[in-house]
Amino acid sequence: MNRLAGKVALVTGAGRGIGAAIARAFAAEGAAVVLAELDGATAVATAREIANACEGAQTLAVQTDVTQPASVRAAVEEAQRAFGPVDVLVNNAGINVFADPLTMTDDDWRRCFAVDLDGVWNGCRAVLPGMVERRAGSIINIASTHAFQIIPGCFPYPVAKHGVIGLTRALGIEYAPKNVRVNAIAPGYIETQLTHDWWNAQPDPEAARKATLELPPMKRIGRPEEVAMTAVFLASDEAPFINASCITIDGGRTALHHE
Ligand SMILES: NC(=O)c1ccc[n+]([C@@H]2O[C@H](COP(=O)([O-])OP(=O)(O)OC[C@H]3O[C@@H](n4cnc5c(N)ncnc54)[C@H](O)[C@@H]3O)[C@@H](O)[C@H]2O)c1
Repeated sequence: MNRLAGKVALVTGAGRGIGAAIARAFAAEGAAVVLAELDGATAVATAREIANACEGAQTLAVQTDVTQPASVRAAVEEAQRAFGPVDVLVNNAGINVFADPLTMTDDDWRRCFAVDLDGVWNGCRAVLPGMVERRAGSIINIASTHAFQIIPGCFPYPVAKHGVIGLTRALGIEYAPKNVRVNAIAPGYIETQLTHDWWNAQPDPEAARKATLELPPMKRIGRPEEVAMTAVFLASDEAPFINASCITIDGGRTALHHE
């Protein structure tokens, strides 16, 4: 408890899924949390749910579109007005764009990069000046195991996620002398609406679900809370020398050659 006491955190895409779990875990550890989310209604509902479940929790929902630099800047300013300067940023908002490279539309390409890579940069750009000035800050970018492994037909999502790792490493090095840490988390399959949507888009959703559960050596997929635990660690003062790194949370799947 209270591993994040006194810190102000902004989590993008925090209305549901992994982002909501991170917001919940941050609040439980004493951080004031801003839920910066495209869907304003889910942001408000999740912020309320956290405030009701966690005594003394400080939460604020701000409708935010990470593809728009001005929208992200406004969310950071609102966070500062409500709670003070942002100490921790989690760039979590993301979308799946899974297509065949040659039949994919230009719009698919742009939509994917706008959220999955530009969105991460827009977040970093908005908080870095303040973090550099205060010589303190932790940025956590939610990448994916798609950032270093490829599944055919899932283009261009992995290209954007590879970029998230590159951005994490570049900014981690750039701002290390200013005591700003930039790290990534690479989740494997985690059970969220995004995963359910993907199963439901397959010809046989139940068979797709079962096949997914068989993939990790632990014979299950991850839970959003299991990603949130690592986000708490990276956001806290327990990880002061972890920088420009990526922590994989996939039950060992990416280390597996084959059964
Ligand atoms: N679920 C998985 O298996 C998995 C695995 C690896 C990586 N990830 C990554 O984790 C992150 C969260 O995934 P999730 O499974 O919780 O997804 P999700 O779809 O359940 O939640 C994503 C949230 O982001 C919000 N969002 C989308 N576009 C936005 C925008 N432009 N501005 C602000 N918010 C926006 C959505 O409204 C939604 O609330 C994503 O970056 C995703 O790529 C997920």
